[in-house]
Amino acid sequence: VTAAPVPGRLSGRVVLVTGGGGDIGSRTAARCASEGAAVVLADLNAATAQAAADRVVQAGGRALAVELDVTDEASYAAAVAAATDAFGPVDVLHNNAAAAHMYTADHGVLDTDPSTWDTVLRVNLLGIVLGCRAVLPGMLALGRGSIVNMSSTRAAGGADDLIAYSASKAAVESVTRSVATAHGRDGVRCNAIAPGVIATAGSRGLHGTAMEGRFLPHLLTTAIGTEDDIAAAVAYLASDDARYVTGQVLRVDGGLLSHQPTMADQRR
Ligand SMILES: NC(=O)c1ccc[n+]([C@@H]2O[C@H](COP(=O)([O-])OP(=O)(O)OC[C@H]3O[C@@H](n4cnc5c(N)ncnc54)[C@H](O)[C@@H]3O)[C@@H](O)[C@H]2O)c1
Repeated sequence: VTAAPVPGRLSGRVVLVTGGGGDIGSRTAARCASEGAAVVLADLNAATAQAAADRVVQAGGRALAVELDVTDEASYAAAVAAATDAFGPVDVLHNNAAAAHMYTADHGVLDTDPSTWDTVLRVNLLGIVLGCRAVLPGMLALGRGSIVNMSSTRAAGGADDLIAYSASKAAVESVTRSVATAHGRDGVRCNAIAPGVIATAGSRGLHGTAMEGRFLPHLLTTAIGTEDDIAAAVAYLASDDARYVTGQVLRVDGGLLSHQPTMADQRR
């Protein structure tokens, strides 16, 4: 079963998705377009963003690809200006980009070097802060906006690896609450989504064929989630259906963190 788009729910909205050329971002942009939004796919990788935007247009949607480095405030200003020229002011920002290429250098406390910390925190944390700084003035002028940040279950559950990534995502959740608190009265909501394992090409590369065996015993669902599950959650939080939801972290993790850690062993 795939969550079906809600026709027209995002019509009149301009949604900017960072990392829009990636596994999850491209699918989320397509979902928002299918609900009526004009979407801007912003990515360091201009070619993947363009290919994903082309697919949206071929499917009948409105999309623009822009090159963006989320760690560079001038690059952000240019992307938001291009989005506004094409479609009008950005009223939804999905801060989705992350430094996935750093996974192989991000281990435990003793074997992750400071330069890895610098890069991961710069992209995953400072990047979302710069995103908020780039779009908030426009949202305040409009008197409305929705910002959806990308966290991870790694923000909450410890592991032997990805120490910098996990810390960056915990900080993303903190920034989410700060932005929600500061600008709720201005009509701007800010929430985060914390995916568990998602069956993307990238995750398959990381976990290989061990993915199902490793994760399924710890899920409360019958299958590992897909990009569509995240896209559906973003579209909901972007829309007025979530008008009373702000400052929240929505876990889309198949219940990975919702039960006693020993449960899988007890069931065996
Ligand atoms: N795949 C999963 O299982 C999973 C689980 C939990 C959370 N997440 C989160 O979901 C989000 C998307 O992940 P994904 O799996 O689609 O990864 P992905 O690598 O496919 O997509 C990330 C995109 O971000 C872009 N990017 C990297 N650095 C950038 C920069 N400086 N400026 C602009 N764009 C940049 C990349 O080019 C890429 O297109 C990330 O925030 C990730 O942490 C993914």
